[in-house]
Order: sequence, then structure tokens, then C-alpha cells
Amino acid sequence: MPRSRFCVLCVVPGSALALSLFLLTPRPAAAAEPPAPPKGPVSFINDVAPILKENCYGCHGVKNPKGKLDMTKFASFQKGGTKDSPFVAGKPDDSYILDVLTAKNNRRMPPKDTGDALPPTKIAVISQWIQEGAKLDAGIDDKADLIHELRLRWIPPVAPIVYTRPVEITALAFTPDNKKLVASDHHELTVWDVTAGKLEKRIRTRARRALAMVFLPDGKLAVAGGRPGEEGDVRVYDINAGTPKVVDGVTYLDGVDDKAVMVKQLLDSDDEVLCLALSPDGKKLASGGCDRIVNVWDISGGAANAQLEQSIENHADWVFAVAFSADGKHLVTGSRDKTAKVWDLTTKESVLTFPDHQAPVYGVAIKADGKTGFSAGDDNQVRAWNATGDQAGKQVRASGGHGKTITKLVEVAKGGTTPPLLVTASADDTVRVWNEDNGAAVRTLAGHTDYVYALAVSSDGALIASGSFNSEIKVWKTADGTVVRAFLGSPGLAVPTAAAPK
Ligand code: HEC
Repeated sequence: MPRSRFCVLCVVPGSALALSLFLLTPRPAAAAEPPAPPKGPVSFINDVAPILKENCYGCHGVKNPKGKLDMTKFASFQKGGTKDSPFVAGKPDDSYILDVLTAKNNRRMPPKDTGDALPPTKIAVISQWIQEGAKLDAGIDDKADLIHELRLRWIPPVAPIVYTRPVEITALAFTPDNKKLVASDHHELTVWDVTAGKLEKRIRTRARRALAMVFLPDGKLAVAGGRPGEEGDVRVYDINAGTPKVVDGVTYLDGVDDKAVMVKQLLDSDDEVLCLALSPDGKKLASGGCDRIVNVWDISGGAANAQLEQSIENHADWVFAVAFSADGKHLVTGSRDKTAKVWDLTTKESVLTFPDHQAPVYGVAIKADGKTGFSAGDDNQVRAWNATGDQAGKQVRASGGHGKTITKLVEVAKGGTTPPLLVTASADDTVRVWNEDNGAAVRTLAGHTDYVYALAVSSDGALIASGSFNSEIKVWKTADGTVVRAFLGSPGLAVPTAAAPK
């Protein structure tokens, strides 16, 4: 696929491009081909509901269902909308749903101008289910959210031992000792030795990809991600626990079923979770995602005892970025709604909105003194703005340089770098370092050959790691921009491409 066809929005959730990842592994059952003409009895949840979810829920969901027909619960589906029940048990010929699926009275569902008719095999499944009595499977409440019930039944695939093609790196994190890097791969996290560029560990995950990772004070790893358009999660992993299986020097952990590895699930949502942040005192964790909600947990008692403290619904669209102020009292967020915002966690109020990007905002940060906010996004600019005072929300300066979308913005928090630095990753294949005090460009880290989507800075500020859409991971020295190590972050394809420093 030519790179020119990529856009940053294609990397982010809900993309058709992500479907190409299915080439790696057999497609999971829930998203599989239409069920073969059913032989045995048809199950509502296993056979019918997946068809309805894929073809009907977009218009017949909980929010403003068309024709007042909410099909996401069995009870409301059975009751019908403005008309009577869409089906009559045992009588396909009297069932209105089959009339609309076959366009019997020239009225079709999905509506003719919005999509193709269902293939006859799928209509046959629904027809047979009605013929057999239109029953809901035992054990499911008729008011249960069917999207959730379907999610419960979905089984994550196991990543192949050797990848057939490089996958995009969508998140990176240094381990607390800064010696290893954790990367997001296909339904797994991979752990790489920084200086050797060698794969050491693979942790299977339910999420197809991680989109943000942060190590917690107790050494556990919080990971946000999901499956585009299907589900989202924040889970906490202990990547040094569980029952390891070692094959060819690589340790395999099961982060799906082994409760010693996947120690806590903090969030379960209907679409991907996009960002995470840890407060500087390590007591609070925040997430943001496609549901537009920013969640804040109190994790002072450890991740296992995490308490959801507040859920903030303040943005009009997906929340791509979140960061805490140094005192932990404010949150800065960036959204597809083209704004950055500051939220006061104490008064639970929105303090300001910064609208100047006029484009989706993918990265945010706030200066240690809390006075200046930073944001970057689809307008290729790093913008600094007043976070407090009379001029709050007013731009201080804009720094240009990136030729394409800025996908990430990270502050080099520690290490006493003078001046304080901001690091950005971009769809222009570069990583750039900026002087936080005056917005000046400090240096450009060039060498990636595809757009850069993942960015991490070591806790001592000495190293920057970047990951790109074509799977390249590069580790750079912050001080002079030299490459410490570069390798492909896809298992089996990982050929180190640079020598370790002497
Ligand atoms: C693009 C939006 C859209 C999709 C997708 C869609 N519908 Fe509809 N549906 C509508 C609209 C609009 C109405 C109400 C107006 C009408 O009845 O034509 C409606 C009404 C209905 C009704 C009548 C409800 C009532 O009681 O009035 C049924 C039954 C129905 N849809 C079934 C389906 C099924 C089954 C699917 C999936 C195969 C589906 N629809 C997919 C838009 C949609």
C-alpha cells in the first residue's frame, strides 16, 4: 500500500486500515464470514446478534434509535419501535423484519441509500431462528446489553510466533529501570532489550493493540487500547509474574487468562481507549478514549484497589491525549473536537478551552509551574498557551517545523535537562525536540521511513524511543540525537539495524 494513502486518522481507531492486520491471524469467530446455512438450531446470541450488530446497531442502538427500535437489547428488539414486534415466533412469513430485509414492500433495511442488502445466507439464519421459536439463549437476561454479551463471548487470537509482515507500533514505554522497552504489537505486548534490540518477552493481550502505556509506582504496567469500533480497555499487567513459557530464549506470558499477569481491569468500554497519564505523585491514573470520557482513578492503594474517582464528559469527540499538572490538581486534555482543555480535579470544573488548532489535538502537556499549557495536532504546530490568569486560554506562541500531523507530544520531565524539553512525533517521519521555554527547535531526529506514531521518554530523560507505522523502533540519546539502537518491533522480523554504543 503506498504510504501517500495513509493519514494519521487511519492509524487511529475505527480505521479501515486496521483491518489489514487481520491478514496476520485467522479472523476471530465474531467477525468471521456469514455463518454457513445453519444445520442445527440457530442461537440468537451466537448467530443472529452478530448479524444485527454488524448491519443494524449503527442506526438501531440505544441513542436515538431509528423508528424508535433499539435492537441492542432482546426485550426492546422484541417489543418493536413505532410498529409492532418485528418478528412472530414460529412464523417467518408474518415477521416484519423479514419483509424489510428482503425489501418485500419496496422498503429495505438497511435503507437502500445507506448500504447493501443482507446476503441471503444471513437472512436465512434470521428466518430459521424465527421458525425455531425466536428464543433468546438460556442464561441471558432479556434486558442485557447485547453488545456486552457479544464481547464476553469473543476470544482473542494468539499472535503468530513469526509475523508475516511488520505491524505498526502504536505505543511504547520504558521499563522503570530504563533498560527495556515495551511495545504494542498484534494482540500482545513485546518487551525488548534497549541496548541489544533483542526480543525478550511476549505478553498476550485481549486488546488488538495498545495505544498508551504507563508504568505505575509498584512496577505494574497500565495499558489502554482495544479493538477499533469493538471494545476498549484499561488493564494492569504484572509483566514479571505468572507462569512463563520459554521458547528459543523468549518468555511468553498469558495476559488474557493468567490472573497473575493481568492483575486488574480498570475499564471496559465499547470503543478504544486512546490515552493514559499518571499523576507526578503516582497516586492518580487518568484515561481518555473514543467514548469522549476522561476517567480518573485513585490508585494510592495500588492498582488492585483502584477507585474510580471521577468520569469527566467535557469533550465533544474522542479524547486523544491527557496529562496531569505537576501538582496533580489539573488535567490537560486534547480531542478530536479540535480543542485542548484544562480540568480542575478539585472543583470538578472545566477551567479553559484552547481552540486555536482548529484541527484535532493529539498531544498535550503542561509546564511544571502550571502556567503554560502545550498542545499539538493535525495542524502540524506545537502551540503554547496561558493556562492560568486573565489571559488563560490565549496563545503564547506556535512552533512550526513538522511537515505533517503531530501524532504525539511528550514532556521530558526529569533528568534536569536545561532547558526543559518537549518531544514530538509526526507523520512526516521525524521526531523533534523543542525548547519548552521559548518554543525553539532544538533538533530533528530523522531516520524513520514511515510516520511516527509512538513516543516514550526514559524516566531519567536521557533516552527517547519512537515507533513508526512500518514497525521501526528507534532509541535516541536526548542529549545529541544519536541512535542507540534501531530494530523492527515485529517478532520474527526483528533485525537490529544499528550497533550498540561502545
Ligand atoms: C442507516 C440507518 C439504518 C440501518 C443501518 C438500519 N435501519 Fe432499520 N430503520 C432505519 C430508519 C430511518 C427507520 C425508521 C423509518 C422507517 O421505518 O423506514 C428504520 C426502521 C426499521 C424497522 C421498523 C421499526 C418500527 O417499528 O418502526 C425495522 C424492523 C428495522 N428498521 C430493521 C432493521 C434491521 C433488521 C436492520 C439491519 C439489517 C436495520 N433496520 C438497519 C434506519 C436504519
